[in-house]
Amino acid sequence: MDLIIRNETERDFRAVENLVREAFWNVYRPGCLEHYVLHVLRDDPAFVKELDFVMERNGELIGQNIFVKTHIDADDGRRVEVLTMGPIGITPALKRQGYGKKLLDYSLEKAREMGFCAVLFEGNIGFYGKSGFDYARNFGIRYHDLEAGEDDSFFLCKELIPGALSDVTGVYQTPAGYYVDPDDAELFDATFPKKEKLKLPGQLFD
Ligand SMILES: CC(C)(COP(=O)(O)OP(=O)(O)OC[C@H]1O[C@@H](n2cnc3c(N)ncnc32)[C@H](O)[C@@H]1OP(=O)(O)O)[C@@H](O)C(=O)NCCC(=O)NCCS
Repeated sequence: MDLIIRNETERDFRAVENLVREAFWNVYRPGCLEHYVLHVLRDDPAFVKELDFVMERNGELIGQNIFVKTHIDADDGRRVEVLTMGPIGITPALKRQGYGKKLLDYSLEKAREMGFCAVLFEGNIGFYGKSGFDYARNFGIRYHDLEAGEDDSFFLCKELIPGALSDVTGVYQTPAGYYVDPDDAELFDATFPKKEKLKLPGQLFD
């Protein structure tokens, strides 16, 4: 089997957006927004082009992952630059076969080589814990707009440079580019083949 991970090129854009749509469809809400989020983020100054990856198996696109620069507003007044990540997606037929972990670990290593100190985002510890992520609260980092005592177990962190956050406590900020207008996402989605939106158990949003 021929498995490669390479940077995304402009020629891949539409196919990658379609892959993201397939991977996220009806997972977190009826339909999904993530293919539009990716579409928008590529033009964001915070988007890290060197860390925009696709995975191919036998020449066929099967996965993708991206990173965006953001920061922690530290309690001592510093602004600590970190990365956030995602969407990351694997084509539905090949989920849970180890490809996501391979792509994740490869892209984290590339982020480390570029000198980024930590990655924080919202995710499932069941998947990301296997690649060294822990709850961000254990690093003293809080999620924006979350009251004390609210469930923050979705908010994860991994230091790329060990100890990089040892003297940092503060509030993580989600980059503005992730907040897309659902109406714009709907218009964008209409340019893809029709797919049925379903309300399913386990979805996080309506
Ligand atoms: C999440 C996703 C990228 C993971 O990729 P994958 O190829 O399916 O996952 P892998 O097979 O590499 O899984 C690696 C490990 O994490 C675990 N894992 C994977 N997905 C999981 C999930 N949703 N919940 C809990 N554990 C999970 C697996 O059990 C596996 O460990 P094991 O094989 O030792 O038991 C992929 O399933 C996907 O595209 N999902 C839909 C989109 C999505 O949710 N993206 C992430 C948003 S934060």
